[in-house]
This record gives sequence, structure tokens and C-alpha cells, in this order.
Amino acid sequence: MKALIATEKPFAMAAVDGIKDIFSKAGIETVLLEKYTGVDELYKAVADVDALIVRSDKVTKEVIDAAKNLKVVVRAGAGFDNLDLAACTAKNIVAMNTPGQNSNAVAELALGMMVYMARNTFQAGTGTELKGKKLGIHAYGNVGKLVAKIAKGFSMEAYAFDPFVQATDIEKDGVKVVQSMEELYSTCEYISLHIPANDKTKKSINYDLLSKMPKGATLINTARKEVIDEDGIVKLMETRSDFKYATDVAPDCHIAMAQKFSARYFGTPKKMGAETAEANINAGLAAANQIVNFLTKGDKTFQVNK
Ligand code: 3PG
Repeated sequence: MKALIATEKPFAMAAVDGIKDIFSKAGIETVLLEKYTGVDELYKAVADVDALIVRSDKVTKEVIDAAKNLKVVVRAGAGFDNLDLAACTAKNIVAMNTPGQNSNAVAELALGMMVYMARNTFQAGTGTELKGKKLGIHAYGNVGKLVAKIAKGFSMEAYAFDPFVQATDIEKDGVKVVQSMEELYSTCEYISLHIPANDKTKKSINYDLLSKMPKGATLINTARKEVIDEDGIVKLMETRSDFKYATDVAPDCHIAMAQKFSARYFGTPKKMGAETAEANINAGLAAANQIVNFLTKGDKTFQVNK
């Protein structure tokens, strides 16, 4: 059997070595396709493999159609909006993610971005401190929970909104629960986004919501660019000179934002939330183990297309 690691943005070498080792012990041959520049390379590489590991690489219907032997695809990471689940299901292919495996890296980056924005993107001038500030955690999943934990070390006051998590589970972490997005945004000087991109959340972070944030507000986005209404945030930044936006998922209007808003806007050149050796190893090895467990025992833990 064959498994393909298709990563336009490659894993750390230690992660690739670890994946190869897991596959080799299970009698699976590893095929590696890194830094590919066109989908044709992916169509060709996927043609005869039984399993596929990707990161944010798009697994479209065309990829699925090209993969004649594919039985399982694992997104080594949390968000699976890059997988065409309907296409997988139609071909009886199991799709999985590896929840929690890269969360700490993303959470550390979110706090790092808060410090960076509070200190004027490390340019000369008087900044502010995170201590005592109200932080709104928008969605309390694996990343949100770790953001709360690290924020406590900065003596921030954490609030969360997540209708899918029991209030008592949030409160036991010392985080205050609010009942609506509107309440979260009107209460907190900092908002850290941890919602997935789906039909319900796309463009949901809009002008009306953001304009509720108090004076001196900062939005941190380590989630997905699609959840932001770009016209709305541009309008807000134009009308509120106190508002700051830092993102690890650059908007389509990134260049214009960077030119227009200078020190109040920051976007990473390439998504780097999960770009740590530790996160690569955790997510990559988890993906490989899930593939082996599925192919040898039919274990479908973390299946996302059911
Ligand atoms: C995730 O959903 O796990 C993160 O966005 C990480 O994505 P990446 O593997 O492309 O860095």
C-alpha cells in the first residue's frame, strides 16, 4: 500500500521522518510531494495511493477523481474546510482531521500577536499592556481553551462565547461565559477568533459586530480569512483610528490594508499558526497513526464526513 504526503507548505523534516517510520513499520510505502506549484503535480501523485495526508492543501473533487485507489484522507490539522467532503463521501473515502494536535502553536501565536499590536508593531512609541484587559475568545475549542490559559499568565480577564460548549466547562477554566457574539464584542478590548470557516460563519465578523468593540480595540485572527467581511473591516478601520487588526490569514485586500493602515494592521506573509516543529510532529504523526489504524483495523476516529 502507498500513502502520499502532499504539502504545498512542507512539514518540518522530523515530522516527515516520523511519518515515514510509522508507515514503514505498517508496510506502507511513503510518497512525498512538497512545495508543488500546480494541481497537475497533485493529480499525478495521488493517482495510485491508498492514503493521503495534507495540510491546507485543497482536496477538491478533481483531486478525488484523480485518486483511483484512495481510501482515506487526513487533514493534519484542525480545520477541514479545504476538503471536499461530499466528493470523499461519494467515493466512499473516509476524511479525518487531527483535532488538538497543533493548537498550542496557534494559541501562542495569538498571544504573540496581541503583544505585537499592543507595542505598536515593535515601532518606537508608547504602547499598552495586556494585563487587566478583557479578552474575548470567540469559540472555545482546543485553541480557544489554550488561549485562555496563556492569557491568564498575562493577567488578562478572559470571556468566551461558544454555543457548542457547556458553560460549566468554560467556567471551570476561570473564563466568563457570555450569551451572544454581540455581548462578547461589546465587552472586550481584544477578540481572538477561533471559529471554523463554514456556511454559517463566512463573513460573520462584519462592520456592525466589530463596531461594538470598545475604544482601543484589537482583533486577532488566527482562524480563517473567510470569516471576515473584508469590506466591513476596511470601513471600520477607516472610520475608527483606534481599531487594530492582526491576522495570520491575510485578507484578499492585504496589500491595500498594509499600505493604508500601517501600524494598525499586520498580516503574516504566509499562515504560520501551526508552523512549529512541535505542531508539525504532533499533527503529522497523528495523521499517520490514524491512517494505519484505519487501514489495518477500520478505526474511523476523527472521521469528519459521516
Ligand atoms: C489548522 O486548521 O489546523 C491550521 O489552520 C493549520 O493549517 P496549516 O497546516 O496549513 O498550517
